[in-house]
Amino acid sequence: MKPSLTLLTLAIATGTTAGAKLAQTPQMGFNTWNSFKANYNESTINHITDLLLSLGLKDAGYNHLLLDEGWSDMSRTADGYLQSNQTTFPNGITPLAERVHSKGLKLGLYGDSGILTCGFRPGSWGYEERDALTLASWGVDYWKYDNCGGFQAMSNAPQERFSLMRDALERTGREIFYSVCEWGFQFPWHWGGGIGHSYRMSGDITASFINETGCPCKTAYCLNTGYAGCSVTSIMRKMREISVYQKPGHWLDMDMLEVGVGDMTVNMQKTHFAFWAALKSPLIIGADLRTLKNESLEVLTNRDIIALNQDSLGKPVHFVEDVSVEGSLQVWAGEVKGGNVVLIFNEKSYPQEVEVSLKDLGLGIERPVRAKELWSGKSWGKIDSVEASLGAYQTLVFRISR
Ligand SMILES: *[C@@H]1O[C@H](CO)[C@@H](O)[C@H](O)[C@H]1NC(C)=O
Ligand SMILES: *[C@@H]1O[C@H](CO)[C@@H](O)[C@H](O)[C@H]1NC(C)=O
Ligand SMILES: *[C@@H]1O[C@H](CO)[C@@H](O)[C@H](O)[C@H]1NC(C)=O
Ligand SMILES: *[C@@H]1O[C@H](CO)[C@@H](O)[C@H](O)[C@H]1NC(C)=O
Repeated sequence: MKPSLTLLTLAIATGTTAGAKLAQTPQMGFNTWNSFKANYNESTINHITDLLLSLGLKDAGYNHLLLDEGWSDMSRTADGYLQSNQTTFPNGITPLAERVHSKGLKLGLYGDSGILTCGFRPGSWGYEERDALTLASWGVDYWKYDNCGGFQAMSNAPQERFSLMRDALERTGREIFYSVCEWGFQFPWHWGGGIGHSYRMSGDITASFINETGCPCKTAYCLNTGYAGCSVTSIMRKMREISVYQKPGHWLDMDMLEVGVGDMTVNMQKTHFAFWAALKSPLIIGADLRTLKNESLEVLTNRDIIALNQDSLGKPVHFVEDVSVEGSLQVWAGEVKGGNVVLIFNEKSYPQEVEVSLKDLGLGIERPVRAKELWSGKSWGKIDSVEASLGAYQTLVFRISR
């Protein structure tokens, strides 16, 4: 007994045991950016905290409250420490973290690997050690780390900049989830897993289903990934090449959800959510919870869809090119514990009839299998193909039992 106890104590002191457990399934939560940008304050956050509970979102698994750009002051303290904006967070972060923790949630903050954040507040370049210790002393549980801020962002490799903060966070001894946000530059699926618990694979999402407002790259392997303005379908497109890199412990992050933001139809919101879930992206709500419509809340709290995301196998769906029709029909399929998942997406702006044979999906399905369509919640009995009429931009999601 004694030697192993000593080892355990040592492991906890260095943070290794605790660290290994993080991110075994993609993280879930709420982030301020998509709806508030930098315009929020302590009372807004307290309200959002309460809504996470009263709307049933915490019960559905959304247990992180994440403050993006905007919480910090335009300058460090006179002796060089990060500080909250003294007008909007006059009490600092510690009481906020205590309140969030008292509700059973975790608190996240945002920073940057350059001299400045994207909103020109202090970045952590050269201050990694000190800032990590500050976060730990405040009781912060999650750190989103961005890629803006002066020449270091251009001249020093992201591998270097983001590793410095990883090491600093680990040395604090506090368990802090590390969310790497370097917009997919330099193909982080080949190196980011060793650095972040999650790492972004594209430029920022915008509340648009199809039409880009920026975002020049249409595939994952493209040098000019752009900073922002990527549509839901363009981020899905990039996952064709890279969903295979999804692994427990370090998830490719398709960016925050735009469900309930902008004017997407319910079918678009369901398609967006189903793909983020089945592709094992973090599920981070970006909608303003104070004005969220019931129809969007229903999408975000669909237990069967969330279960795909949190499945213990941690395997993403992959694009089934042979049965898909470019620009018209997308079929994605994969494995979940006890069976399979199949997504059938009508990419047209009008309804269409589709027929997809399950034996053509490379899943080893030879005989009829029991299938349930998760958005309707209806069992389809034993089937060997799907024949259905899909609405504009609708996705049917089948969970197959084997
Ligand atoms: C916080 O922001 C809200 C909404 O913008 C505003 O009504 C309120 O007065 C602000 N509170 C403080 C303490 O600044
Ligand atoms: C603090 O936040 C207020 C309200 O958003 C803003 O006007 C002010 O510039 C911020 N101050 C600093 C020093 O960051
Ligand atoms: C995309 O933009 C085109 C041109 O403005 C518009 O006709 C179309 O409806 C838009 N599509 C969606 C899904 O918003
Ligand atoms: C939304 O749901 C709540 C709780 O179920 C209900 O009280 C409210 O009437 C609904 N609102 C609308 C517009 O359907």
